[in-house]
Amino acid sequence: MGIQKRLVGSYFVVICLTVLILEIILNLSVRYYYFHNIEQTLMNQAELSASFYQQYFSDEDLEEQSDRLLKGFASHSDAQVQIINAEGRLLQDSNGIQGDFTMTDNMDVQAAIKGQPGSWKGEDPVTEEVIFTVSYPLQAKGNIVGEVRFVTSLTETIHTVNQIAVLLIGIGLLVIGIVTLLGLLLSWTITRSIKDLKQAADQMSEGDFSIRVQKRYQDELGSLADTLNMMASRISKSEQLKNDFIASVSHELRTPLTSIKGWVITLKAGGKSNQALFHDGLDIIESESDRLTHMVDELLDFSKLDNGRIAIHLTTVDLTELLQHIGRQLTPRATRQDILLQVKIEENLPVIQADENRVKQVMINLIDNSLKFTSSSGRILITAHTVPGKVVITVEDTGSGIAEADLENVRRKFYKGDHQASGSGLGLSISEQIIALHNGELRISSVLGKGTIVQFDLPI
Ligand SMILES: Nc1ncnc2c1ncn2[C@@H]1O[C@H](COP(=O)(O)OP(=O)(O)OP(=O)(O)O)[C@@H](O)[C@H]1O
Ligand SMILES: [Mg+2]
Repeated sequence: MGIQKRLVGSYFVVICLTVLILEIILNLSVRYYYFHNIEQTLMNQAELSASFYQQYFSDEDLEEQSDRLLKGFASHSDAQVQIINAEGRLLQDSNGIQGDFTMTDNMDVQAAIKGQPGSWKGEDPVTEEVIFTVSYPLQAKGNIVGEVRFVTSLTETIHTVNQIAVLLIGIGLLVIGIVTLLGLLLSWTITRSIKDLKQAADQMSEGDFSIRVQKRYQDELGSLADTLNMMASRISKSEQLKNDFIASVSHELRTPLTSIKGWVITLKAGGKSNQALFHDGLDIIESESDRLTHMVDELLDFSKLDNGRIAIHLTTVDLTELLQHIGRQLTPRATRQDILLQVKIEENLPVIQADENRVKQVMINLIDNSLKFTSSSGRILITAHTVPGKVVITVEDTGSGIAEADLENVRRKFYKGDHQASGSGLGLSISEQIIALHNGELRISSVLGKGTIVQFDLPI
């Protein structure tokens, strides 16, 4: 069953039950109020009449005075008034009924004969009307000499009560109608949002992430729509990134492979006879293979770092020793490119806890960048100094620099400048993650055409 049906259904049941209970209570109350009121009024009149009799007529004979009495009693009441003697025989009736009637069949009269006020509600056997009667004993000198009886028809009252009941039922039905309509409207607003969400989710599950859900209200469903939209845009972004990545990786892999294949063909065709060509060819094949290996290693590293699957192994590292070693290792390449590579390290640099291989990897990445983007007769300076709590290592070059627009992007994975020396764009991203794993920070500042300063710190 759909949400709308469930919502409206439960609404409907609850409101019907509530209205039903209210109707019953209200109707009973109205009936009670009206009937009780009539009983009270008649009883008061009867009591008043009885005490009037007791005060002013108790010395006289009831049967003789009954005519006068009746006039007195009836003048205060709209009801039919009867005067009955002590044996239950009708003496006078304000409606003019005459004859030798014995009233002892009536329960109210029976009670009054015994000295108790009595009342009775039921159908009049003659007129078949529903009537209400009250009988009250008339006392003279302590004896019961007769009864006064008030009779009123309830037809009018029943009619009024029924009219009120119909009105109440009408109001109840109206309330049920309005609430059901409101429920339908409310549930429609909910199910409409849900339908939108479901439709979008369906389309997304089919692979269309360009779809966006319309946010209709600022509620939970609205924020679900936001979340879904955000998810879709993230997925399409990462999809885009993946495609870019595959494109750039295949492109990067293709260049060395083309070169290798070209040389293999050349060598096959006649390289054996030409020793110099043969060696050149093999050298190039070797370096291109190295490039491929380097790239694949970087990719593997990157994916591991990105998945958080790399843990660093802290050991005691002598930074002075490490930095000088790296400097010595890269000097031949710098010399080949006619670049001055200098290492200047503050004295008494403290030993730190770090993953030596990873720090080395970062340094090689940074110096590799500097070497790639610095032209001949340039200069690269590696320095290290301490500030409270950490060691700051700086790689500074006089190379091409990075345009301001690129500066905030160079750390992103696969982001590379359009320099022809640019590689796969992973070096800085990997370095930053490694430094972050050491709880350090990597900062880059650069001026286009002047040079670049990359700085990172490692906690002591
Ligand atoms: N020292 C630098 N001078 C000038 N530009 C730089 C320097 N270092 C980085 N860049 C710019 O930042 C980009 C990203 O550098 P990153 O080291 O991440 O990638 P890459 O060197 O191109 O490739 P990889 O390091 O994966 O071989 C570079 O392509 C380059 O445009
Ligand atoms: Mg690099």
